Amino acid sequence: MDKLRIEGGRRLKGRVTIGGAKNAALPAMAASLLTDESLTLDGMPDVWDVGTMRRLLLHLGASVSQHSLSDVTLSGASLKSHEAPYKLVKTMRASVLVLGPLLARYGRARVSLPGGCAIGARPIDQHIRALEQLGAKIELAHGFVNAETDGLKGASIRFGRQTVGGTENVMMAACLARGETVLDNCAREPEIVDLAALLTSMGAHIEGAGTSRIRIHGVERLTGAHHEIVADRIETATYAVAGALVGDEIEIDHCRPEHLEPLIDILRKTGTEVVSLPQSLIVRGGTRPIECVDIETAPYPGLATDMQAQLMVLLTQAVGTSKVHETIFENRFMHVAELGRMGASIELDGSRALVYGPSALTGAEVMATDLRASASLVLAGLVATGRTTIDRIYHLDRGYEHIEEKLEALGASIERLVAND
Ligand code: EPU
Repeated sequence: MDKLRIEGGRRLKGRVTIGGAKNAALPAMAASLLTDESLTLDGMPDVWDVGTMRRLLLHLGASVSQHSLSDVTLSGASLKSHEAPYKLVKTMRASVLVLGPLLARYGRARVSLPGGCAIGARPIDQHIRALEQLGAKIELAHGFVNAETDGLKGASIRFGRQTVGGTENVMMAACLARGETVLDNCAREPEIVDLAALLTSMGAHIEGAGTSRIRIHGVERLTGAHHEIVADRIETATYAVAGALVGDEIEIDHCRPEHLEPLIDILRKTGTEVVSLPQSLIVRGGTRPIECVDIETAPYPGLATDMQAQLMVLLTQAVGTSKVHETIFENRFMHVAELGRMGASIELDGSRALVYGPSALTGAEVMATDLRASASLVLAGLVATGRTTIDRIYHLDRGYEHIEEKLEALGASIERLVAND
């Protein structure tokens, strides 16, 4: 398994360009199953999860052609299977996003139940319940969701809790259902707005994406389209925190600052200078001591859970005690023990943490446990004195494109140690 080796203590300066959002790219790829025409997606991030979704689409019989690293054309014209097998779903939970499209277009789908993962139990009960309300017959057996329908029908559905994947899955299915669907208590993340824009350019009738009520008028068929994936707000946030920690001045280009308001607000409260421009952010750290601040994750437009681990590293450098409250996932503090091994002083109590700062972090051998936890270890390595070696960075490769190259270009001393196995 590859590792990352970081020599900490370097100041960063320069420009970094943000890629397309992994969490918008994955549902967009699943949407290709809704049409037999070609769907061309630009701005695709070069990350492993996109490769896993590509493998899943190929397994189903879709055709996938890659024109460049960031430009791919997909077509769900002649499927040979309706099954998302365990080996792919266990590698990437977002595989479950093929459930709604397969059911809507082919009338059946068999998708392995994802099960829990490092950050929590992560059930898909809300996806299933809503698809049943659209008229699907669903049975859970032998670790699979078996779904079939002789035609989905529009319905009024209220999600019992806000779910990003659930909103996406059901929105895609409802595009080909007969009549009108009204979804309430929807997730409002920018990735949902991006998916709705793609579906609309495929001929779907969708109103209200980005609000808690989405109204969809079903159509008989969807066409091909050309779509550019929205910029990755979590990648942006990760470089912004790097800037706050060790940046003289980092310009983060090709991003959408309006998707990051709570983060920008928190960074400013810590004393970091942030200039927000229409498509870029300029972050200057180190001009004053970092101040402590309390943070709480929430569904969009609140602070994303996917930014919590990275911000926690910044709080280890703040003067005083910061409170962190994680409200989305029940087990998203796997980074805390590893940060402790680097000298952080963090006390955990269920979904809350107290971060005592400032702590002088020291380089250590640490282990990545999930995607965003891995990003927090990279940030800790940048600010620590001495050498940090991060093992199991396949977690990082799932969602960050060329992270060591981007950080090196900013002046970090970071190297990938390629495994021989
Ligand atoms: N939940 C249920 N039942 C459901 C669905 C969700 O109880 O049927 C719960 C989950 O267990 C969780 C909460 O609702 O506690 C929110 O889950 P959600 O469905 O919104 O998450 P997701 O769609 O599985 C996406 C992102 C995650 C991100 C979350 C929250 C993708 C591919 N993944 O997951 O991204 O953390 O939304 O914003 O879009 C990451 O990129 O590292 C990542 C984990």
